[in-house]
Amino acid sequence: MRIVSGIKPSGQLTLGNYIGAIKQFLDLQEKFSNSSFFIFIADLHAITIPINSHELEKNIREIAATYIACGLDPLKVNIFLQSEVKEHTQLSYIMESTSHIGELERMIQYKDKKNYSETIRTSLFTYPNLMAADILLYDADIVPVGSDQSQHLELTRTLAKRFNHNYGKTFKIPEGYKSKIGSKIMSLTDPIKKMAKTEKSSKSYILLSDDLTSVKKKIYSAVTDNDNEIYFDEKKKPGLSNLLTIYASLSNNSIKETEKKFKNSSYKEFKDSVYKIIAETLEPIQKKYKSLINSKKLDEILDKGKKEASKIAELKILDVYNKVGLKR
Ligand code: TYM
Repeated sequence: MRIVSGIKPSGQLTLGNYIGAIKQFLDLQEKFSNSSFFIFIADLHAITIPINSHELEKNIREIAATYIACGLDPLKVNIFLQSEVKEHTQLSYIMESTSHIGELERMIQYKDKKNYSETIRTSLFTYPNLMAADILLYDADIVPVGSDQSQHLELTRTLAKRFNHNYGKTFKIPEGYKSKIGSKIMSLTDPIKKMAKTEKSSKSYILLSDDLTSVKKKIYSAVTDNDNEIYFDEKKKPGLSNLLTIYASLSNNSIKETEKKFKNSSYKEFKDSVYKIIAETLEPIQKKYKSLINSKKLDEILDKGKKEASKIAELKILDVYNKVGLKR
């Protein structure tokens, strides 16, 4: 079994990234302890929108340290930088020569993001090709992602099948892996939008690096409603349902159990419990992070990850080039 996923270093990691992605990595690390794991920092994806180079460099290192601080075990998981394994870009080009323009135009994330800016980088448009390459390069069986990545994953499956059909069996068809609870954590200030590190208001998201006082403030000011009843209904009560989801996920309980637990609580009591469970989650992560961020050990882990990933990637790209006829 091979498990592959990545996170874009376009900012610091949010609680949404933790619940939707990292927590799934940790579950899979336990569940499939004999699997091979490739979890990378999707740094090439971060330059699809403008980003300061120093900031990018800082974010990359921070995400690497955060992966480990959250509990990824470098003995079981290969952690590496996407940009350090050059086959990602090579296969991405092959994917560009496999996908159709119409398919890329239909990508929701592209359609959303292109509205924000007059000048859109070409790489934002071809982004799903690189993502497909990230996955197919390693013959991933399982790809743990939040629900906002489902469409990209579906396209990856389509491209793999198309390539296999055109050139003979080359790629495994990967399966997505989503958490039952929390595959889309919403903004705290506008709970019909996804919690995202790129949002303007820092009140809308919780960063894994936020100090606990500001976490408390953000949870207390999170938008809810006025009917003072605690139950899950994403349509009628999006803010409250989002907080229930966060609590349920971090306490490893179902939504039903969580609703029952807080049935007779006030919103203030409930928010207090939500804050506490977030604080309990973040405190050990932040402590471990501090010991890692400037360590040489972190570089050793990334070097090893790069080496292991390259071994597989080099063979795969050779096979692909051969099949396509890029040879003499
Ligand atoms: P990115 O960096 O936007 O997000 C990283 C992961 O976090 C999940 N996520 C969320 N889950 C729940 N609630 C949220 N509010 C939330 N925000 C983000 C995302 O679904 C994702 O799983 N294109 C990808 C990175 C990538 C990738 C890959 C992933 C590049 N290549 C190959 C898997 C396999 C992205 O931009 O994720």
